[in-house]
Amino acid sequence: MTEGIPDASLVLESLTKVFDEKARTPVRAVDGVSLSIARGELITLLGPSGCGKTTTLRIIAGFEFPTSGRILLDGRDISQVPPNKRETGMVFQSYALFPHLSVFENVAYGLQLQKRSTAEIKDAVDVVLHLMNLVGMEQRMPHQLSGGQQQRVALARALVVKPKLLLFDEPLSNLDAKLRVQMRTEIRHLQQRLGITGVYVTHDQTEAMTLSDRIVVMNKGRVEQVGTPTEIYQRPASVFVADFIGRANFVESRAATVQAECAMVRVLGQMLHLPCPEGVRAGNEVYAVLRPEAVRLSEPREGLPQGQVRQATYLGSQVEYEVEVGDQMLTVVDYEPWSGHVFAEGAQVAISFRHDSVCLLPQAANGV
Ligand SMILES: Nc1ncnc2c1ncn2[C@@H]1O[C@H](COP(=O)(O)OP(=O)(O)OP(=O)(O)O)[C@@H](O)[C@H]1O
Ligand SMILES: [Mg+2]
Repeated sequence: MTEGIPDASLVLESLTKVFDEKARTPVRAVDGVSLSIARGELITLLGPSGCGKTTTLRIIAGFEFPTSGRILLDGRDISQVPPNKRETGMVFQSYALFPHLSVFENVAYGLQLQKRSTAEIKDAVDVVLHLMNLVGMEQRMPHQLSGGQQQRVALARALVVKPKLLLFDEPLSNLDAKLRVQMRTEIRHLQQRLGITGVYVTHDQTEAMTLSDRIVVMNKGRVEQVGTPTEIYQRPASVFVADFIGRANFVESRAATVQAECAMVRVLGQMLHLPCPEGVRAGNEVYAVLRPEAVRLSEPREGLPQGQVRQATYLGSQVEYEVEVGDQMLTVVDYEPWSGHVFAEGAQVAISFRHDSVCLLPQAANGV
C-alpha cells in the first residue's frame, strides 16, 4: 500500500466558476485561482464561509465544471474528464457512507466497480481497514459506528482505490473537539507516511496549521496568499490574511522614508526600519501588524511608551489584556503569566515589543 499509492502533482490555471451566469446577479464563486501543488504535498484551502473553497474542490473532483481555466493532474488536462475517471478520492463532512452496506462493503465498493477479483478486494480492504484501525468492525453497519469511526470508514473507502489525489471537504467538522484534534493528527501522519497529494478544505485555522505543508487563504473566490503556516502567520500579505489568521493589532502608522524595499516608520513611539510592501511610497499610511504575543507589558519606565490596562482576563495558561495606548487599543497576550506580574485593570504599564515580529501592510481599501 505504502508504495502503491501513486502521487501526483496538481496545477490549477486561472480557475473561474460563475454560477447563475445569466441571472442579474451572477455569483463568481471562484475567481481566477491559480495554484501548483507538488507531489506528496498537502495543501489547505482556508477562508471564511462562502469564499469558494468547496466549489474549488468540487471542480478539482469533477462535480462542477469550470467556467474558464484548466486543471492539470500530472500534466494532463482533466478539466473535461468525468469525476469517476479522474483518479481522485473525496472525503466529505457528512461521511456519505452507504447506510445499507456494512463497513467491509462500503470500503470494497469502489473496487467492485472496477470489477476486481474477490480475493484482490479482500486483500486491499484488509490493508486499509488495518491502516485505519477498523479491524474487527467489518460487518458493522454505519449506524452502529461512532462519528469518528464512520469518518475512518469514509477515509478507508477513499484510500482503497489508490487515488492520485485525495480531496477533503471539512471532514472533521461533525466530530467533537477532542476527536477532531486526534483525527487531524492521524490524517497528517497517514498523508505523510503514504506520500499522498491532497487538497484539504477547512475554515478552522488550527486544523489548517496542523495539517498543511502550505495554506491557501481565500477570500471572495480569490487567493489572498499561499504559504507555509509560518509564512502566513508571520508575514501576512494582506490585512485580510493578518486579520483572519490568529489575532492582530493594526497600529496606524506612516512610512517616513522608503529605500531599497525598507521603510522607516514610527510604531508606538519607536522608529523602526522594516521590510516594506510593494507600492508603498514615503508619506503613505501603513499598518504595523503586531501580534498580541509579541507585545510585552512591564512596570512604567522611562523611554518606553505607556498605556493603561483596560481589561485583564486571567485564563490560567495565559493572561489577555486590552491596553489603551494613546488613541489605540492593543490586545496583548502573556503566555508566561508565571514569570512576571499579572497587571490589574487600571494599571499603568510600559509597552515593548519584538521589532522583528512587526510587519507592514498598506492601508488599502479592504481595511480592517
Ligand atoms: N450551485 C450553486 N449555485 C449558485 N451559487 C452557488 C452554488 N454553489 C455555491 N454557490 C455560491 O458560491 C459561493 C461559494 O460557495 P462555496 O460553497 O464554494 O463556499 P465555501 O467556501 O465552501 O463556504 P463554507 O465554508 O460555508 O462551506 C457562495 O456564495 C455560494 O452561495
Ligand atoms: Mg464549503
